[in-house]
Formats: sequence, structure tokens, C-alpha cells
Amino acid sequence: QCDLKGLWRNELGSNMTILATNTAGTFSGSYHTAVAATNKQILASPLQGVQQHPSAKRNPTFGFTVQWQFSDSTTAFVGQCFVDHRGKETLETMWLLREEVLSHKDTWKATRVGTSIFTRVK
Ligand code: BTN
Repeated sequence: QCDLKGLWRNELGSNMTILATNTAGTFSGSYHTAVAATNKQILASPLQGVQQHPSAKRNPTFGFTVQWQFSDSTTAFVGQCFVDHRGKETLETMWLLREEVLSHKDTWKATRVGTSIFTRVK
């Protein structure tokens, strides 16, 4: 089974807590990033997400956004939960980080992209 609820950590050392998913598949939680593109002091930040097929616990896809409390940027993650033969769960994701730029002329440099794998801590 794949349950998004819990405490997860990625390869950067960022920690994320996902609270229980409701029957509609929506969930909320908190993201504490280990790194930032800004020089501001990092603060834990809220996340809002949705899981596809909330009751089917196989390999659900999901997406969530993080509203950073210390920068003007937004990150959107999409991913899928997998369970290996030992029952170990991973969240395999890709993300887009949109930075606020003051002019649309700077749009070309405003979006970062990456992959991230989360493993369960708790
Ligand atoms: C910012 O720098 O403006 C906000 C913090 C962004 C952190 C990014 S989101 C994608 C990547 N994965 C993480 O765990 N942290 C960075």
C-alpha cells in the first residue's frame, strides 16, 4: 500500500509532513526545505495537494504546491508513490519552481525544474 500521510525526506535533506488525505483526495501539510534559491531565512511552509484515486492504494499519482513563507516563489510538485518488494515507499517527483520576476522580459530565467525522490521517515 502507498499512503501519502506521514513524514518524508528527499535527497536534499528537505522534510515534508503530509496530513491525512480526505475522501476527495485533497491533502495539506508542511514543507521544510533544506536549501533555497534566496538568501532569506528558511521557514516551514504550507503545502496543498491532491491525490488521484484516493481509495486505491496501489501506486497513486499526486500533485501539490508549496506556498513559500520566506520568498515570492511557488513550487509545484507532481509525482507517484511506489512500494518496493520489502514494503519501502518512495515518492518519485518532478518539480517546477517559479520565481517572481519584475518584468515579463525576465520570464526566460524564472523557472527551475528538477526531480526529487522522497523516502518515508515516519
Ligand atoms: C525559494 O528558494 O524561493 C523557495 C525554496 C525552494 C526550495 C526548492 S523547491 C525544489 C527543491 N526541492 C527542495 O526540497 N527544495 C528545493
